[in-house]
Amino acid sequence: MHNNIDLDKIDINSAPPTEEPARQYYFMAKCRQWVQAFEQKNGRRPVACIQTFGCQMNAKDSEKLMGILERIGFHETGDEHADFVLYNTCTVRENANQRVYGRLGYLNTLKKKNPDMIIALCGCMMQEPHVVEKIKKSYGFVDIIFGTHNIFKLAELIHGRLQHKKMVVDIWEQTDQVVEELPTERKFPFKSGVNIMFGCNNFCSYCIVPYVRGRERSRNPEDIIAEIEKLVSEGVVEIMLLGQNVNSYGKNLKEPLSFAGLLKRIDGIKGLERIRFMTSHPKDLSDELIEVMKNAEHVCHHLHLPVQSGSTRILKAMNRRYTKEQYLELVGKIRAAVPDISLTTDIIVGFPGETKEDFEDTLDVVRQVRFDSAFTFIYSKRTGTPAASMENQVPEDVVKARFDRLLFEVQKISSQVCARDLHTTKDVLVEGLDDHLEGFVTGRLDNNTVVHFPGEESLVGTLVPVRLEESKGFYYMGRMEPENQ
Ligand code: SAH
Ligand code: SF4
Ligand code: F3S
Repeated sequence: MHNNIDLDKIDINSAPPTEEPARQYYFMAKCRQWVQAFEQKNGRRPVACIQTFGCQMNAKDSEKLMGILERIGFHETGDEHADFVLYNTCTVRENANQRVYGRLGYLNTLKKKNPDMIIALCGCMMQEPHVVEKIKKSYGFVDIIFGTHNIFKLAELIHGRLQHKKMVVDIWEQTDQVVEELPTERKFPFKSGVNIMFGCNNFCSYCIVPYVRGRERSRNPEDIIAEIEKLVSEGVVEIMLLGQNVNSYGKNLKEPLSFAGLLKRIDGIKGLERIRFMTSHPKDLSDELIEVMKNAEHVCHHLHLPVQSGSTRILKAMNRRYTKEQYLELVGKIRAAVPDISLTTDIIVGFPGETKEDFEDTLDVVRQVRFDSAFTFIYSKRTGTPAASMENQVPEDVVKARFDRLLFEVQKISSQVCARDLHTTKDVLVEGLDDHLEGFVTGRLDNNTVVHFPGEESLVGTLVPVRLEESKGFYYMGRMEPENQ
């Protein structure tokens, strides 16, 4: 395994290897030389801060990036007063972009006080040429820019910046490469995301993700399983399988394997307590998957099934490839097989051409399905997507009023649905000490609902039975069953 490579044994005076990941370990060793010189000069290790915007895919990438930085010798900090600051950006909605530009101004003031500071940008925003142009033009203090396809190259890019002392820009338009066996620094000791595929082929008409994350690529099942087994051996009990559309996993593998087939194999891994996955596209959710969810031992009874809109007309314009009726039918089928399933969703309000009737259809789906929770978004125009050039954009005030109505409805239903397990005893995976209540810990049910209950730090990372005594709408207050106290 390359993960165990001793950087001291790498000959950094020879030419860099051409194959991966050996090449990156070579550059990690090179960068470490710089870190050692830094330590001698400053009497401390350099500190690195990664700020993550966006989804779990980015959060996972940030863990990999921090893994590389730590191997080089950086010390992790959550504070931007650091020697290396990396923003892992998101561009799914315009406000995500604005936040990055705002924060960059702040970083500039920090860099003026610490001129040796290295500022790097990566992630989905950097895959958009107009963004990179803007940064080159107006944010010249940025040192390194890279994209979503080459995060594994971080050490090589830092080395390039240290050598040439000018902005390094390395963006790949596309890749079919999946580089395995690089270090990673996990945020939680007991749970972890695991990529099963990268990219998206769906091209929903509003969405920028396929343009910035490239075409679908699945990881080999052997690599996925080996990674999970290693995680379990390190104490991980819960994993979240990650992909933009996990239901189309496996199509480009040499020996095709369905997502349901993969899930079944993962369910057999000893020591793993909980398996989650996201995201499922309704058009690809198979009967086989429902069957596996029903029969598997460790697959959580939770499904995130983005509906986006309840109007068949709008769904067609969104290129979602299902109708309102098909979505409702699918929900019925899942509920019949797994009656205690928690369903969550994503909804967009104000897609171009959305009429009052279309919006009423969305409310209707929300009322019929009764989601455990729903992430609601105001439609955001993304340059380069088909929806951006649609003419009938909905006026802002109309969208805002609809959004408020939807949110009210979603929250009302959610607080009713979330209380359904009140006065029962359920297993809770303890995630940490409670931030607000002394002597309490916080954990999650199988269906992802948060529970607070009296307990000690030693419980973190364990599954314990908890009596759900009081529902607070979106979370419970509970008490551990006596035999576990
Ligand atoms: N792959 C996932 C979602 C990725 S993006 C899926 O297919 O469901 C997460 C959510 O952001 C989407 O489900 C959608 O609801 C929302 N979203 C994506 N593009 C958007 C846009 N242009 N405006 C508003 N919301 C958007
Ligand atoms: Fe975007 Fe649709 Fe792909 Fe999800 S499935 S990432 S919404 S294009
Ligand atoms: Fe954002 Fe990229 Fe995820 S655009 S939502 S970080 S895939």
